[in-house]
Amino acid sequence: MNTGTIVIRRIEAHEWPLLCELSALDGEAFPGDGLTPTQLALFARGGLLQAVLDNGQVVAAAFLLAVPGTRTALLFSLAVRAAHRRAGHGRTLLADVERDLRERGFEEIELTVAPDNTPARRLYQEVFGFREAGRLPDFFGPGQDRLLLRKRLTPAAESGRKPEGNGPHD
Ligand SMILES: CC(C)(COP(=O)(O)OP(=O)(O)OC[C@H]1O[C@@H](n2cnc3c(N)ncnc32)[C@H](O)[C@@H]1OP(=O)(O)O)[C@@H](O)C(=O)NCCC(=O)NCCS
Repeated sequence: MNTGTIVIRRIEAHEWPLLCELSALDGEAFPGDGLTPTQLALFARGGLLQAVLDNGQVVAAAFLLAVPGTRTALLFSLAVRAAHRRAGHGRTLLADVERDLRERGFEEIELTVAPDNTPARRLYQEVFGFREAGRLPDFFGPGQDRLLLRKRLTPAAESGRKPEGNGPHD
């Protein structure tokens, strides 16, 4: 559902109403595990909060830890409001995040994903070329394994099929 003007931008730690919207989005996507606005403010200070706004309302967001001087950024969360899924927001946002990290000198991005999260795995692995780097048993508690996925952000390290997000216009 795309109703108006789409803007992708960084959300800062002082933007409390937007942090509340991001928190609501995270809670919708990960019931019982959503981050509070205060926790999100920490991400804004220690990494990157990047959001897609549709007519000023948050429809998608990515939360990252990206500490200056380190080479690997951690994509902690990527979520799209349920009513706005399958409209390309996840794809657009991830491409934007990758471009931002490259510009800031990060060499690699990593994340974890539930093994049965087909929509997310297709986005990360098939569309963007993330590679499986291991399985993390009981990551979120007994029986809640996660897959560790990684992607090099430097073009020279890529091989084979060209994944989304590495082109000159991305
Ligand atoms: C995963 C998620 C972020 C995808 O966002 P989205 O905006 O719906 O995705 P897009 O419309 O940009 O789709 C991009 C590609 O992702 C894959 N994809 C997205 N949703 C899918 C689905 N329901 N089933 C299968 N593949 C899917 C497809 O490859 C799709 O490309 P296509 O449309 O050409 O087939 C979204 O489903 C979501 O917020 N899920 C809940 C939160 C979550 O699990 N986040 C990941 C945590 S690691």
